[in-house]
Amino acid sequence: MGMLAPSMMCAQIDKLDETLRAFEKAGIEYLHIDVMDGCFVPNLMLGTDYVKQLRKLTSIPLDIHLMITEPEKKISWFDFQPGEFVSVHHESTKNWRQALQLVRDAGAKPLAAINPPTPVSVLEDVIDLIDGVLVMTVNPGFAGQKAVPETIAKIHETRELLARHGLAHLPIEVDGNCSFEMAPKMRAQSADIFVCGSSSVFTKSMPMDEAIAKFRECVK
Ligand code: DX5
Ligand code: ZN
Repeated sequence: MGMLAPSMMCAQIDKLDETLRAFEKAGIEYLHIDVMDGCFVPNLMLGTDYVKQLRKLTSIPLDIHLMITEPEKKISWFDFQPGEFVSVHHESTKNWRQALQLVRDAGAKPLAAINPPTPVSVLEDVIDLIDGVLVMTVNPGFAGQKAVPETIAKIHETRELLARHGLAHLPIEVDGNCSFEMAPKMRAQSADIFVCGSSSVFTKSMPMDEAIAKFRECVK
């Protein structure tokens, strides 16, 4: 069964409480928080205070996507909690291992994040440190993009690499254009966790509870 991680950058701030209650009622598994610094990605979104405030509003575990430069110098700013996923991009630091280890030392679950052009093989460098992988299916920074076609095959390639290390059970998360059309293709490649944004849960074409139910059907 695929798990849903709605992208909180798509959530309307004036409806946040209503949205969180709907997510709790629907059994949403994680809340995906896109932390963007305007340097690693050309956008500025959701900082440390948003993360801290959101923890007070819901018990749904956070899935924090660090799109920031030199993450190893900023891990301590976030007060990560046990049970939270924290994704660190290969492309964001020369000290990828150090950054992932700091996430683990903080008690959270480190995910290795790779952008569309980055080969899956880089995961070999950190395979002993991770609790899963975030495969970007768009170039990070903005909602509403179309998936990069070549990224879909990377999902299964990632599963095969994990399996070669006896880690086939680790979750693979996909982020970007997880639409009702694309999600079944991603699921067929063994994706486990789906970042749901404007293409699905936050779609304007149907009520949110309907969109969630429809998406669950897509990733059974
Ligand atoms: C991309 C963001 C995601 C996602 C949003 O950088 O991390 O939040 O793309 O969802 P979509 O792609 O469906 O609008
Ligand atoms: Zn993200």
